[in-house]
Parts: sequence; structure tokens; C-alpha cells
Amino acid sequence: MEISKYCLLLLVASSLYYIVCSTTVSHDGRALVIDGQRRVIFSGSIHYPRSTPEMWPDLIRKSKEGGLDAIETYVFWNGHEPRRREVVYNFEGNYDLIRFLKEVQNAGLYAILRIGPYVCAEWNYGGLPVWLYKIPGMQTRTDNQPWKDEMQNFTTLIVDKVKEERLLATQGGPIILLQIENEYGNGDIEIHYGEAGPRYINWCANMAESLVSDVPWIMCQQSDAPQPMINTCNGFSGCDAFTPNNGNSPKIWTENWTGWFKNWGSPDPHRPVEEVAFQVARFFQSNGTIQNYYMYHGGTNFGRTSGGPYIVTSYDYDAPLDEYGNIRQPKWGHLKELHASVKLMEKALTYGEVVEDHLGNGLTITKFSGDGIVPGCFLSNQNSTVDATISFQGTKYFLPAWSVSILPDCKKEVYNTAKVKTQTSIMVKKKDNAGDQSKDLRWSWKPERLHDSAKGFGNSFTVNKLLEQKTTTVDASDYLWYTTNKGEELMLPLHLLLKTTFEAPLGSEPVVVDLLGLGKGEAWVNGNSLGRFWPNITANPDGCKQCDYRGNFQANKCQTACGEASQRWYHVPRSFLKRGEPNTLTLFEEAGGDPNQVNFQTVTVGTACTSAGEGDVLSLSCQGGRTISSVDFATFGEPDGTCGAYVSGGCGSDEAVVILKNACLGRDSCSIKISDKIGTSCAKLASPRKLVVQVTCS
Ligand code: GAL
Repeated sequence: MEISKYCLLLLVASSLYYIVCSTTVSHDGRALVIDGQRRVIFSGSIHYPRSTPEMWPDLIRKSKEGGLDAIETYVFWNGHEPRRREVVYNFEGNYDLIRFLKEVQNAGLYAILRIGPYVCAEWNYGGLPVWLYKIPGMQTRTDNQPWKDEMQNFTTLIVDKVKEERLLATQGGPIILLQIENEYGNGDIEIHYGEAGPRYINWCANMAESLVSDVPWIMCQQSDAPQPMINTCNGFSGCDAFTPNNGNSPKIWTENWTGWFKNWGSPDPHRPVEEVAFQVARFFQSNGTIQNYYMYHGGTNFGRTSGGPYIVTSYDYDAPLDEYGNIRQPKWGHLKELHASVKLMEKALTYGEVVEDHLGNGLTITKFSGDGIVPGCFLSNQNSTVDATISFQGTKYFLPAWSVSILPDCKKEVYNTAKVKTQTSIMVKKKDNAGDQSKDLRWSWKPERLHDSAKGFGNSFTVNKLLEQKTTTVDASDYLWYTTNKGEELMLPLHLLLKTTFEAPLGSEPVVVDLLGLGKGEAWVNGNSLGRFWPNITANPDGCKQCDYRGNFQANKCQTACGEASQRWYHVPRSFLKRGEPNTLTLFEEAGGDPNQVNFQTVTVGTACTSAGEGDVLSLSCQGGRTISSVDFATFGEPDGTCGAYVSGGCGSDEAVVILKNACLGRDSCSIKISDKIGTSCAKLASPRKLVVQVTCS
């Protein structure tokens, strides 16, 4: 084994010294090679401006506990350089990229930095500052000198900052991969950019490489990425069949969409964990070695630079950590088990030889083995409707349709993507800590006066046409006010700025404000923007049908909340709130809403359900300091209904309820082993029996 980790003892001044440990990062066609070792990397996206610095350590800790090795983020140009070449760029608050990367490093995780600086990301103008369009001759994202000057200037600024803070892996920092551009190859380059497209991509590659040459660069969805750029795959699926464009590039899945973003007027999109896990397992079964969840924590589109006009303020994304930073179950836990299972065969996956056996009907056995390596196997059933039992090396394995089993020693199945053992948590909004404040809130309203700055940005002017909004407002406002003279009367639009004071809910659980009843506008707490609100637009009433995780997935396949307010609750991060003194909620309302129902709530696990077979361990947990307050249901077999609404069926067991109460009541988590001694009155059920349980957290 090559030993490439080296530490330098640096003498500074006379007697001070410090140790610099550097990590080497390279790659071959199989994997990323870190300190001489090929590695399997699980990564997850967290966009730093979509949460607060106070939330970062907890989000990163939960990502690590969920089995991630790395955190990925884009860099958001229009947030950092809102005005061109400001002497002081914005790296404050939730734009403190360096602090974010240091939190990742402190947690002992790697970082993947996708600089872009075009990023897409459901962000205003894909992250491009709108002042770019004021530059004469500007054509963005092509072989155009004004664009290349600006892009290079910003990319260099970020790389220099990162180097100054010694954040590249080769400097002892966490960054193991960098990205330039974003999905440029998704458009039809010939049509959109002509010959300038490939010229531009070559320029991007050279520019990137001239800035950093000892940490690999990636280009996602760029099949003609020039060496040494690594081209990578994005999508819900299909990355198992993806092949990089040269033999020296490992197979990387940069965006595995864990859910989807939501538009105003649309229902909530979901992606079942069985489907996410299936695709991830297929990817590793097919020689993939680096996979990133987009998003692992989606967060919130605070302010107005993120989100753009169509995207709701919540960027929850149905990610393993919800918008507020709570663990979303069973998604987080089922993926955590997947990561641990794949890691058990890391050596075989990165050094073993691969033998594939296609059995027909979508059934495949894949074996990774080699001298001195414990062999690892995947058994997959890609048929979307038919379950199967296959015989392998003398043992029978049951494979539900659309599932993959992992056998880290090619004998024992430790994981199947369709067999979810993690608890389901139903999140609830509670007023108990906060009290129902809606009746106590006293509102004062005043009409919004337009500042001079809002009137044509310093210049009032008269036109007899509608204006192009982007070039007129330069992204400094969502609004472009038109006034008109009708006879003597000056017509001004009526907008209200509005405010009230409230007490912060006690405790540490995430806080939301319920804005049902309001129309459309922007909200602030103590001067911090909560983002745009628009609760009176309802989600499409159609499209929420029974969802089957099996088969091809699309963003609108599994939706909920049809016909409901498309976003009713808005996150108020704890760091925005003051304890023991009044807090101010300010609303800018453009559609004349009614604030009488506005109130503050906390979000937590209300109900948890799980099941376990005989011989297995049944585990349950609450969150945020809550404890299990009642055992509501314990039955052997298959009950009717779903978690939160089990009704009957199976064989109810009072004995199991007593055992669970003893083990769980008053605790924030508990585990019991299901033995054949529990539930003797249900002993007649076929073995191995399964116990299904529901508890309440409060
Ligand atoms: C990808 C893009 C991401 C994000 C995603 C959808 O195509 O690269 O930035 O927009 O789609 O959430």
C-alpha cells in the first residue's frame, strides 16, 4: 500500500510550531483515491444559505450519524457579490461559506464544493448576479470575453478564500472535489451556443485547473468534459447505466434527487425511501463508488435571492433531514442502514473483480471478489411488479419487486431496499409550548410608502409601455410599481406593512409561524426575512393518488396535500428569536389578508410506529427532548390502517403492551428484542411473527 499521508512540522518564529496534515486526493477509473486508498463515498447536499449558522453543526452531526462521509454545497454568487466588485463581498451570516466548511471539517467529514458559478438550484437566475446583464456585450455561459472575465474573477475569489483558510484536502482541509459549471451539457450545445459551447467548456476546464491542480474537478452532465475534468451523472435514476467519458474517471452520481422542489400552487412532492434506496444500491451494484443526495437537507428560501418567483419558500425537498432540521423517518434511518451495509463491502467494491449473472426477468446477481478480499454480493430484482425467490450458492433469497439485497459476505442478507425496518415518524405542529397566541396578537398596519429608491431606482420616469422587470429592478426588489393618472386621481396600489409582537415559544424545538388567512407578501421576524409568503394560493386538487414506489419515478408520482394551501407554515429559526423579551413579526401584505389566525407553533414527532420480526430488535425514538408518553397499539401480524390510524387486524397483545410500557414510557428512545416468549396468546400465528407498534411522543 502506498503511504501518501504526510505531515509537516512547521517552525514558526522561534519556538511556536504547528502540524499540517495533508490528504492526497486523486482518482482512477474505479474510485476516488484518498491517501492512497480507493474509497466509497456517501455525500449529501446542504446549501449553507438555506439554513442558519446556528443550525449547521446539528445538521452536519445528523448527516454524519446518518452515515455520510461528505457534505456537498453549491456556492451562491449573487449572494456573495450582490453589487459588482464590492470592496467587501458578503460572507456574513448564512452566507459565511468558510464557517460552513469549517463546521464540516470539525465534524470530521469531507466537503464537495460545486462553485459553478452558474448553479441552477432553484435560485434566482441560477445564482448569477443580475448586474451581469448590464455589462455591455455580455452573453452568459458561453465563449464571451465579458462573461469569462466575470466568471473567472468570482471563481478565483472563492478558490483564493478557500486556499487562504487551508480548506483544500491537500492543505489539510476537507475539500476533496470541486465543480466548475453545472449541467452545461444538458442543453443542446450545438443549437444553443454553436461552436462557442465546446470552446467555452474547454476554457472552463483550463481555468479551473489553473486555479487548483491537486484536487480533482468535476463537471456534471457534461459528456464531452475535457480531461482531467470528471464528467458525472444527475437524475432520479439511470446513473447505474452511466459510463464516464474516459477510463480514468470513476463513476460519480452528483445529484440523486431525494424528493423534489415545490412550486406555488402545486402539491407536496415525495420520493419513497424504498425507491431512493433501490437506485442507490443499483448504482453501487453497477460499479458506482461516489454518490451524493441532492438534497440531504433542503432548508428554506429565506429572503428573496433564493427560490425565484415560482418556488415556494420551503425547500424541504422531502430530504432525509426536514426543512427544520428534524430527522425524517423512515427515510433517514433506512438510508443510514444502506450506507452501513455498503460500507461493509468497501474493499470488494473498490478493489474486487466484478462478475454479473443475469437470470432473466430483471434478476441479477453481482459478485465483487479478489485475492485477500472478503467477497461482496448484490442480488437485484428490477422487475417492477413481480416478487421473486432466487437460489444462490445453495440458499434461497426472497427479493420483492424493485428491490436490491446486500450480502456483504455473499451469504447473509443484511439489507434489502424494500424491507424497511426503521420507524415511521409522524411530525406534528404543537401550540402547547407557545400557547395559542393568535387571540393575543395585537396588529398595527400602515400603508407602505414607496421610497424614492423604489421609484425607478433614484429616477422617476414616465413610459407608455410595460417594462422588462429584470433589467429595470436589477433584482433589488420583487416589485415594480406602476402608477397612472386617471383624470385628477392618482392610482396607487394598496400595500400594507404590517406588524405585531409575540413571545418566543419555550424549548428548543423548531418554530414555525402559521400564516393561514394572509394573502401574499414577505415576512420578517426581528428584521430577519422568513421569505415570501403566499398561503392563499392552493395546490392543484388533482394528482394525489395512491403511490407505488415500484417502477419508474417522476417528480409528480407521489404527491400529498392536493387542494391545500401550497405553503401555510413558515420556518422561524431559533436564532431569529429573543428569549424573555418581545419579538416583532412584520408582514408586507400585497393582497389584503386577514392576520387573525396567525400563530406560532413548534414542530416535533407526534407519533412513531415500527415493526420487528421474532429475533429482531424493535427500536423507537422521539426527538427534541420529548419522551414516549403512551403505547397506543401493539399487534402481531398485519393490522389494518396506517401509522397514526391503525384500527384492528392482526392479533392484539396486551402482554406486548405491558412489556413496551415498561421499556419505553418516559424515555426518549427504547429497544426491545422480540422473542417467541412475548405475546403467547398470539402464539398460533405462523412463525416468525411480526410485532407492529405505535407510540405517542410528548
Ligand atoms: C438539476 C440542477 C440542480 C437543481 C436540480 C433540481 O438539474 O443541477 O441545481 O436545480 O436540478 O432540484
